This record gives sequence, C-alpha cells and structure tokens, in this order.
Amino acid sequence: MTAASRVIAVTGGASGIGFAFSEALARAGHKVVIADLRGAAEAADRLKTQGLQAIGTQTDVVKPVDVASMVQQAVKAFGRLDVLVNNAGLFTTLALKPFDQISDAEWMRVMEVNTLGPFICAKAVVPEMRKNGFGRIVNIASTTPIKGTPNMLHYVASKGAVIAFTRSLARELGKDDITVNAIAPGFTLSDGVLENDMHSKMGDVVRKTSRSLQRDQVPDDLVGALLFLASDGAGFITGQTIAVDGGSVFI
Ligand SMILES: NC(=O)c1ccc[n+]([C@@H]2O[C@H](COP(=O)([O-])OP(=O)(O)OC[C@H]3O[C@@H](n4cnc5c(N)ncnc54)[C@H](O)[C@@H]3O)[C@@H](O)[C@H]2O)c1
Repeated sequence: MTAASRVIAVTGGASGIGFAFSEALARAGHKVVIADLRGAAEAADRLKTQGLQAIGTQTDVVKPVDVASMVQQAVKAFGRLDVLVNNAGLFTTLALKPFDQISDAEWMRVMEVNTLGPFICAKAVVPEMRKNGFGRIVNIASTTPIKGTPNMLHYVASKGAVIAFTRSLARELGKDDITVNAIAPGFTLSDGVLENDMHSKMGDVVRKTSRSLQRDQVPDDLVGALLFLASDGAGFITGQTIAVDGGSVFI
C-alpha cells in the first residue's frame, strides 16, 4: 500500500524542531504549511528548492485571525488540511529561575503561547477535518511535567496542560475519527537551545544523570514519532503521549 500524502500544518515550523518536522514531512511526500511568527516564507523556499511541496505563512498562533488565514491558505494551496502539528512554543528564550522570581506577566505569556495557541489552532482546523472525514492533531508537549523539572514552573505547567488537553480533546473528537496525540521531547539541541547557554548547561546534566541512551538529543530524533502519528497505521491511537527522550522518563 502506498503511503497517503497529507496536507500538514506545522506551527513554529520555520526553525528548530519545527523545521526538522517540516523538512521530514515534506521529504516523506506530504504537503507542508509552515506557520511561524518569523521566517515562514524563507523556510518554505528552502524546501521548494529541494523540489518539495511547501508554503509559508506568517502566523502568530495566539491570533485567531492569523490562524484562520493559515487554514485558508492551506486549503487554497493544497485543497484541504489533514494534520495539525502544534509545535510553536515559548521555551528556548525563557531564562531558568526559581518560581518566585517568575512575574505574573511572564507566567501569562508562557501560558498564552503554549496553551491558548494550540487551543486556537485546534478550533480553527477541526471544521476542515470534520468536513473531510480525516484529521490528526499532534501536540508537542515535553517530559518536564512528568519529571517535575525545577526552575521553569510556568513552562512545566503549560506542558502539563498540553498533555491534559491532548487526552480530553481526543475524547471529544473520537466520534469524528480525528485523533489527538502528543509527543513529549526530552531536552533537544534545537537552534534556540544552542543559542542559550543556560539551557545548554542544563542539557548536559540531563544527559549525564537520567538518560538511558548516552548521547545528545537532536531535532531529527523526533521526526520518526511524528511521521508515525501522521501515518495511516496510527489511526487507532489517540489521547496518548509518546516520550521521545532517549529513555529518560518511562510513562
Ligand atoms: N528544545 C527542547 O529541548 C524541547 C524539549 C521539549 C519540548 N520542546 C518543545 O518543542 C517545541 C519547539 O521547540 P524548539 O526548541 O524548536 O524551540 P525554538 O524556540 O527553537 O523554536 C520555536 C519556534 O516557534 C516559533 N514561535 C514562537 N512563538 C510563536 C507564536 N506565537 N506563533 C507562531 N510561532 C511561534 C518561533 O518563531 C520558532 O520558530 C516547543 O513547543 C518546545 O516547548 C522543546
């Protein structure tokens, strides 16, 4: 059986883990909509020069107008939208600090991008998925809420919410044959992490103290799980969180 080619929107898909997702999906024959605050058109051009199918759309995931436009552009370019990858998030730009040094405003901003963003995107794509009788939502969570990682309480709480969101939305969308799953990456050397000394040092500690597979995790380590969740073979899996972290946590 030949694998189906899907139309897949990747939020935050222009850099870091998101770009690794966009590139791997396009190389697997999917049509990719790269939605990002910045660099979306350039990232799509990088794929198109490889002969791959992609468009870029400047999108702020917390702005419903932008997200509605992302869906419209996907449908205009490729006729439908089958899969949403909720990858955009605030992580690599956050300073690590004790919980009582996090301002209320910073807490709200992290919650806004990391939880309201996926909610707005899910609301925007589901009508299109219902219409087509096919849909997959993949949320990018984190292993930090499972570990109880300190010094980023807003981030950890937001990703715990993403795991809970995944479970409840899976129950609501089951009747529509739309699956909702999460991938929980371990500490990954994305572009943003490599630029942030504090995060890079934390990554060393994770690798040495808790990871079964003794090497650094890179964005390409995450693409296999996403390709699987977007594939026809994953159609009876929903509400699950798959940890991809070299065996650091066991869910
Ligand atoms: N790197 C890690 O160690 C790690 C571990 C676990 C989970 N994650 C999660 O994986 C995802 C990607 O992480 P990364 O390390 O590649 O991050 P990154 O900071 O390198 O990239 C994030 C991308 O999201 C985009 N973005 C940010 N806010 C946006 C908004 N409001 N609207 C649209 N796009 C927006 C950025 O422009 C950027 O392209 C995030 O959800 C992050 O929380 C990362």
